[in-house]
Amino acid sequence: MASVTFDHATRVYPGSETPAVDALNLEVADGEFLVLVGPSGCGKSTSLRMLAGLEDVNSGRILIGDRDVTDVQPKDRDIAMVFQNYALYPHMSVADNMGFALKIAGTPKAEIRQRVEEAAKILDLSQYLDRKPKALSGGQRQRVAMGRAIVRSPQVFLMDEPLSNLDAKLRVQTRTQIASLQRRLGVTTVYVTHDQTEALTMGDRIAVLKDGLLQQVGTPREMYDTPKNIFVAGFIGSPAMNLGQFKVADGKANLAETHIPLTREVLDSLTAEDNNEITLGFRPESLDTTTEGDVGAFPVTVDLVEELGSDAFVYGQLANKEAAQAITSGAGESQMIVRVDPRRPPLKGDTVWVKIREGEQHHFSPATGLRLPS
Ligand SMILES: Nc1ncnc2c1ncn2[C@@H]1O[C@H](COP(=O)(O)OP(=O)(O)O)[C@@H](O)[C@H]1O
Ligand SMILES: [Mg+2]
Repeated sequence: MASVTFDHATRVYPGSETPAVDALNLEVADGEFLVLVGPSGCGKSTSLRMLAGLEDVNSGRILIGDRDVTDVQPKDRDIAMVFQNYALYPHMSVADNMGFALKIAGTPKAEIRQRVEEAAKILDLSQYLDRKPKALSGGQRQRVAMGRAIVRSPQVFLMDEPLSNLDAKLRVQTRTQIASLQRRLGVTTVYVTHDQTEALTMGDRIAVLKDGLLQQVGTPREMYDTPKNIFVAGFIGSPAMNLGQFKVADGKANLAETHIPLTREVLDSLTAEDNNEITLGFRPESLDTTTEGDVGAFPVTVDLVEELGSDAFVYGQLANKEAAQAITSGAGESQMIVRVDPRRPPLKGDTVWVKIREGEQHHFSPATGLRLPS
């Protein structure tokens, strides 16, 4: 087993002005499950492919353990990769599919058989070893793809959106299986996904990328509780965090009839560039319903109620039409999301008064997008 280090790793594709991955610095500990997450095109696959040796590194280095592998051939890196399109060989049995890489490497037949059987046991595939892929379910095929990686007992697993081809229910099931399998095998894993729920549920730590730039690395809890900037705040969490532009005056953040007190520390960390404005973030579950007149309360018009049984979410807008534009969420322009009591949800068209629970708002500089100390 081994750690993985990206040391200012940069990839500029030929013909492109801007790097697809820009001076990536990231250390993955031995045995760790690290998830690289971000929107489509942010450089996740490129990062993984640099680690695999499938993509040139234009500057910087990549290390596996203490070994600089920047110029090492992919086959000599002791890694195994699972892709989104993990096409299995249709004419080969499950066992032959799983053992193929070992066969190519000239591993003796008996040893291949033994390693395939071991992996099959771990993956619950023992009774399918003689079947052809077409006689398997989607989930079983996905496990065969995992098996191909496991039999090689590599130092590092690389996975690029390996669950994308599964339906929603199977994806949830399989992500738990992969996470627990990784913990059991203890093999250092770099896992790529665009799905922040997958990242939160699977990773020991999460690294968020945007436009080729690393935004933040941390445990799921850290990413959720203390996002470093507005982008991470809006990206991590489902339903998404509400983000509002407020005017700063009299020590408060003000928007229409809403006046939210700010601490001295927050006020002091604003600069002239912020232009007497502040961006406040508040998660749907950080809002309490209250009554008109409560200090800091603001009215929200209900557009839609999403009832999930265990939870209910109001999708609405700030009732003050002029101010409504100032608050957005990942759900859409000028929309706000409020978690409400699922046993007593409001109705479409109602007005609910809500208030940010004390200490649960996030403060950001509108000028830099960075989190303010509070
Ligand atoms: N082979 C390539 N040649 C040129 N540009 C590429 C190539 N592969 C990816 N890119 C560009 O690099 C950026 C990052 O791509 P990628 O790493 O595939 O993103 P992700 O996996 O996060 O969706 C994108 O802008 C993409 O268009
Ligand atoms: Mg990709």
